[in-house]
Parts: sequence; C-alpha cells; structure tokens
Amino acid sequence: MTASPPPVDRGPAPPLRRRSRARRALVLATAGLLAAGGVGALSDTAHAATTLGSAAAAQGRYFGTAVAAGHLGESAYAATLDREFTSVTPENEMKWDAVEPNRNSFSFGQADQIVGHAQSKGMKIRGHTLVWHSQLPGWVSGLGASDLRSAMNNHITQVMQHYKGKIHSWDVVNEAFQDGSSGARRSSPFQDRLGNGFIEEAFRTARTADPAAKLCYNDYNTDGVNAKSNAVYNMVKDFKSRGVPIDCVGFQSHFNSASPVPSDYRANLQRFADLGVDVQITELDIEGSGSSQATSYGNVVKACLGVSRCTGITVWGITDKYSWRSSGTPLLFDGNYAAKPAYDAVISALGGTGGGGGGGSATCSVSYTTTAQWNGGFNGQVTVTAGSTAITGWTATVTVTPPQKVSATWNGSPTWDSSGNVMTMRPNGNGSLAAGASTSFGFTVMTNGNTSPPLLGSCTAS
Ligand code: XIL
Repeated sequence: MTASPPPVDRGPAPPLRRRSRARRALVLATAGLLAAGGVGALSDTAHAATTLGSAAAAQGRYFGTAVAAGHLGESAYAATLDREFTSVTPENEMKWDAVEPNRNSFSFGQADQIVGHAQSKGMKIRGHTLVWHSQLPGWVSGLGASDLRSAMNNHITQVMQHYKGKIHSWDVVNEAFQDGSSGARRSSPFQDRLGNGFIEEAFRTARTADPAAKLCYNDYNTDGVNAKSNAVYNMVKDFKSRGVPIDCVGFQSHFNSASPVPSDYRANLQRFADLGVDVQITELDIEGSGSSQATSYGNVVKACLGVSRCTGITVWGITDKYSWRSSGTPLLFDGNYAAKPAYDAVISALGGTGGGGGGGSATCSVSYTTTAQWNGGFNGQVTVTAGSTAITGWTATVTVTPPQKVSATWNGSPTWDSSGNVMTMRPNGNGSLAAGASTSFGFTVMTNGNTSPPLLGSCTAS
C-alpha cells in the first residue's frame, strides 16, 4: 500500500525522512531521562467483541474481579470493570473490620456501593469474608470463649441477612489452616478459644442466615496437592459425610516465581470437586510479565475448564496499578488499562476469538508514551505487543486533537483520514512479532497550543 503524506503544514521543516531521523535521535537521546521524570502515558487496546466475561460465559463460567469501592469513581476503572467482568468480590469492604468495627454496630456503606454497582450491571457478587483471623477488629480478639462464639454467630447472621438474596457465594471461613507440612489449624482467636468446631459452627450459622447463598471455604497454598490442601480436603470430606453445610471451596491462587502454578492444579481441583462441592478460583494473580505470565494464566484457565464443577474465576484486581502486589504486575491490565498478553492468553484459553479480524487468534495491544516534549511539540511512541500467538501484521490508530498536527513519523507506514487528525499506522518491516513480543513506532506532534496527548484507537492483528 502507498502511504500518503500527512496533511500537515510543515512550514520550514525539513522533509519527512530527514526530520524523522532527527526526531528519532532525540527520542533515543532523551528517553532515559524522561522515563525517570514520569512522562504522561495513556493507552488503549481493542479486541474483537470478545470480553473475559462473554468468553467465560460461553464456557458456562463467570469471570470476576476484586473491586475496591474507592476506585469506582475512576472512569477507566469502572469502564474496564463493566466491559470485561461478570462477577465482583469486594476486596476489603466486607471484611469484619470494615462492616462491624464496633460490636454490633454495622457499617455497610462501602460494601453497599460495590453491591449496588454490581447489581446495576447484572454481575454476580462473591461475599468475602465472614470469619478470618486477619482484618479483624481488636474488640473481637479480646473476647472470652462464649462471648466470642455469640459475636461470631451474630456477625455472620447480621452480615448475611443484610445481603440476603444478593450474594452468589460467601467465603464463610478464610485461611483457617497453617502453611507447611503440619496440616494443623492456624492459631487465631476463633481456633484458640473455640477449637476446631468453630468452622463447622460458622457454616451452620451461615446456612440458616441465607439458605440460597453457596457457602465456601477459601484458602491459599492449597492450589496443588500438598499437606495444607490435604488437611482442607479431609475437612471437606468430613463435612460432606456428616451433613455439615458446605457448597464450594475457593482456591485463592496467588502465584509468583517462588509459588508457581502447580502442575497438579487441575487434578487438585478435581479431587475436591469429586467430594461433591463446586470449586472456584477466587483471588487469582500471577506475578511476572509477557509471554511467561501469559502462559501461566492460560494454564490456570485451562485447569478450571478441565473440571466441570469449576464454576468461575476471579482475578484479584483489574489493573496492576491497584494490585495488592503492584510491583509484581500480576494482573490482566497494565496501569493504563491496556490488556496485557496475559489477557489474550485468558481469552484464547476460554476459546474466545480474540481480536484481529484476520480470523484465528491473532491479537495485539497498544500503549502510548510521550518520549520527548519541548515548547511547541512532543514525540509520541506507541508500543505494539502481540497477544498469546505470533502475528504477521498489525494496524493501530492514533488521533490527535486539532489544531495539533503530526509532522513526522518513524518505524511505521501511516495513512490519514480526511480530517487529517486520525493516523492509521501499519508496519514498515516490523509486522511480524512472536507471541508476547513488542515493536514500536513514533511520531512528532506540533501542539499549536494544545498539549493533550493523542488518543489510541484499536490495534488489530493478522
Ligand atoms: C488483601 C487485599 O487485597 C489488600 O488490599 C489488603 O490490604 C489485605 O488483604 N487473601 C485474602 C484477601 O483472602 O482478602 C487478601 O486481600 C489477600 C490474601
């Protein structure tokens, strides 16, 4: 294809080619300095109509995320939540310290905000969590045994009744077992004062409070077959044999290089399912980046799909920037809400068509950075990243705000719409990318008084 020149007033500027080289040199010279200065960035990703939620729904599963009430007012956060997810878990807002900070005095405001948002969008809601040793207000730890028992049962009853009919699954008890080889219960006010029976009592109280909610036991480091998961398995087996109400087991699935996705993950989910409970992946995050992170995410999704009673997956946050393990960039969207290769891997494992228009599962994502700024202009750089499969071509659009004009481009072949504001960029020898690999193109914008960063449109891959 022939790239038509940008319809810009170049004034006394040198011809495009020479100018491009000059600007490129400037980019290279200043990129390091500017990176340290935190140059503004934005990004966008466009895929085919497929979303996490719709791809999971096609497999009969929900795809959820932890949500923090404090971020719902951020438009990109809410837009990504609403577009991609079909279930939410309040990240902290339903924990004991949040809803019953003082004895028998309940504050549901922040949790209600999340529940209201989810209901207005038709999303399912996971309740997290009723009885846990952490994020527990001081007054609970100070109680004697009989007082603690009634406080626990009152807490479960009041909270579940407040949300009766609205919660799909409740994490009734969270993290009650120790790590390591002992298989023992973890020390906590509940364990230490009420003994092993506190778990059973919590589940019985929960069943009475909201009989329609599924009641889950939830824990971490139980994702593969090990001493801790064996201990949970034996408890669930015992509950099922004695008729103690339990409907599901949640596997938090917080993974990193020290604790990777176990090779027997699917087998472990299956053995719990075989006890007659649903299994859910409840707090998934995987530290890392690029294709290795993508592969791990894909493996988790495949493990769930391989177990018919694995009813859904929840990731522990939307964007890396708000993750509880932010420095490990463990989520599906980067800090600018651009979908990462891990996102494409999830979509593809779910059997989604991905983006691309070229058929198959070719996808790409784009992100933007301003690499240089001066009085009257700036250089922009767009990074194009292939999804979970190799691609042979890509198309990305960049829109500038009038009276801005693009005066130079490099590492791509541009075409322009009639307004001259929308540049469609195609590869210039850099169209073939391995799965998860990136390339970038750049351009110079004359601000003509308007310093807004450009908007990225869709990236399509072939
Ligand atoms: C974490 C939240 O993400 C943080 O914001 C908070 O500071 C601590 O708790 N297991 C769980 C979750 O069950 O509730 C935890 O969430 C992460 C580990």
